[in-house]
Amino acid sequence: MNIIITLAYLLSSILFILGLKNLSSPKTARLGNLFAMSAMLIAIIATLLKNEIVDFTLIIIGLLTGSIIGAIMARKVRMTAMPQMVALFNGLGGGASAFVALAEYYRLTGGTGLNVIISMVISLFIGAVTLTGSLVAFGKLQGIIRPAPVVFKAQRTLNILIFTLFLVMGVFVTINPANHTGVLAILTIALVFGILFVIPIGGADMPVVISLLNSCSGVAAAATGFVLDNNILIICGALVGASGLILTRIMCKAMNRSLANIFFGEVGGSQSEETGEEGKRKVIKYTEEDAAMVLDSAQSVIIIPGYGLAVAQAQFALNELAKMLLNKGITVRYAIHPVAGRMPGHMNVLLADANVPYDHLLDLGDINDDFQYTDVALVVGANDVINPAARVDKDSPLYGMPILNADKAKTVIICKRSLSPGFSGVDNELFYNKNTMMIFGDAKDSINKLIKSLKV
Ligand code: TAP
Repeated sequence: MNIIITLAYLLSSILFILGLKNLSSPKTARLGNLFAMSAMLIAIIATLLKNEIVDFTLIIIGLLTGSIIGAIMARKVRMTAMPQMVALFNGLGGGASAFVALAEYYRLTGGTGLNVIISMVISLFIGAVTLTGSLVAFGKLQGIIRPAPVVFKAQRTLNILIFTLFLVMGVFVTINPANHTGVLAILTIALVFGILFVIPIGGADMPVVISLLNSCSGVAAAATGFVLDNNILIICGALVGASGLILTRIMCKAMNRSLANIFFGEVGGSQSEETGEEGKRKVIKYTEEDAAMVLDSAQSVIIIPGYGLAVAQAQFALNELAKMLLNKGITVRYAIHPVAGRMPGHMNVLLADANVPYDHLLDLGDINDDFQYTDVALVVGANDVINPAARVDKDSPLYGMPILNADKAKTVIICKRSLSPGFSGVDNELFYNKNTMMIFGDAKDSINKLIKSLKV
């Protein structure tokens, strides 16, 4: 039986790797998911075949409960709430790794080898940090907690002290594995550290935190794999850890920040209390008919989708509008900012859902120089990713983040409901520019009205 389980684990690992590879392109992502799902199924079945299992009752209860909750969430959770769900899953993954490692520690009650106890300490710490850190990230994304950074005096010193305390307790427990109080102290320290680690991060830097927590959940799982001596858990965890780190790097690059700068710098900044309803500066409100006239006479249009597109579920209407413009001989492309929306690839998934051809979607680096030769930049529910404060305002939490050069287009049409800021809480000067046409309203309604006006 052991050889079958080993071979099944090998097959599962290969499928996981193929899954990751295919997930790196929208064209093959569906196949990637299929590979990864099959890999997980094989891994679960192979693990259940292990002769170490003496009673299946709890396992079946767990499997049924998890599957039912998972199925309900998959059906009920709206696309816009996906990022929160991913944050929650990261947290639960980390928590599960920590508690399984803890359970194994109690089962072996002190009679463990050095490698197992070190792995247990790592899993407990990283897993528990991931759990509470992800819960805070979930709260910020869900709007339960204000996304603004929570900072207080001596915060960094406190974090360093807590981390040092963990290291000391880790050494104590490693020297004396029967030190149960030390193990519980590590768990408590980690749960507190997770909260303190994430609360100072705010505004536009959340994508980095989420991908880092994703990576942490993988590292915790790999460490638990060492505790349990389970190869597939080690491989799976390592894959999640490594791919999460790569994603973290991509997100750091997208924000033009280093990881150290995000966690230890003063960025993430305070949120503007302004609602954007300016007393002195004037915003001209245009109608959809005005905007349709500008679009009708354009030769080239670049569409900039953002989080509001997902909220309004306007992707189908937007695709219809784009098709109408294309039929009129107008060049239409989409500019995709790497952190637009609330999760990596959010806009790609949304637009793929509406069957927008992949080759119409261009990354920031590939399209940014074209805005200056473009007649219309049509912004649908995007805000931070076009905020010029990122270029010029050194005090802004967005400063340094590369943005889409919407302001360089001849005319900028912005569809959103009000003047309120985006996720970072920073007011956007672009709304007040002379070449900007603000169209207020729900993005889906506005796009539908644009379509109607163009048909007339
Ligand atoms: P945001 O800056 O968040 O702006 C979205 C805009 O959409 C808001 O200003 C909102 O204005 C508008 N909106 C909301 N509902 C709408 C609706 N029904 N119809 C029309 N407009 C609507 O979005 P963005 O430009 O995509 O930037 C993303 C931000 O999220 C960045 O700061 C990024 O760092 C952060 N973030 C990203 C991720 C990832 S991985 N992508 C994860 C976490 C955080 P109104 O209320 O006035 O309509």
